[in-house]
Amino acid sequence: MKLISRKQMWSNLSLGSIALLFSSFALAQHTAPWNAPESAKSQKNPFPPDKSSIKRGKDSYITECARCHGETGKGNGPAVVRLDKVIPPDLTNDQVQNQSDGELYWKISEGRRPMPYKKKALTDDQRWDVINYIRSLKGK
Ligand code: HEC
Repeated sequence: MKLISRKQMWSNLSLGSIALLFSSFALAQHTAPWNAPESAKSQKNPFPPDKSSIKRGKDSYITECARCHGETGKGNGPAVVRLDKVIPPDLTNDQVQNQSDGELYWKISEGRRPMPYKKKALTDDQRWDVINYIRSLKGK
C-alpha cells in the first residue's frame, strides 16, 4: 500500500477545512440576525403616512416586492417557490413592524441574499413611500 506524502496529506486536510469553513459560513448567513447600523435606525421618513404616500408606495411595492412578499405582505408571493432556504418574513408581524422606518429603509436599500437591494430599482422617495405602505398592512 502506498502511503501518501506528508505534503499531500496537508493539502487534503486544508481542502477539507476550507470546504467546511464555506459551508458553515453559508449556514451562518441564513441564521444570523439582520441588523441595520445604529446610524441608519434613527433616520426619519420624510413623508407622512397619508393616503397619497401609501398609494405611491403600494404601486412600487406591487412591481418590486409583491412577487416575493405577496400583495399584503404575508410572504406568499408567486416567486417564493423559487427561493431555497430563506423565505420572506411576514411583513405585517411585530418582528418587522417594531423596527423603525430608518431600519427598514436601510434593509430595503441594501438587501440581503436572496432579497435584492433596491437602491437602483427605486428612488429614495419611492423607498420611503414603500415603508408607509408596509405600515398600512399592519394587523391586516
Ligand atoms: C426575490 C424575493 C424578494 C424581493 C423581490 C423582495 N424581498 Fe424582501 N425579503 C426577501 C427575503 C428572502 C427576506 C428575508 C431575508 C433574510 O432574513 O435574510 C426579505 C426580508 C425583507 C424584510 C425584513 C427584514 C428583517 O428585518 O427581517 C423587509 C422589510 C423586506 N424584505 C422588504 C422588501 C421590500 C419593501 C421589497 C421591495 C422593494 C422587497 N422586500 C423585495 C425576499 C424578497
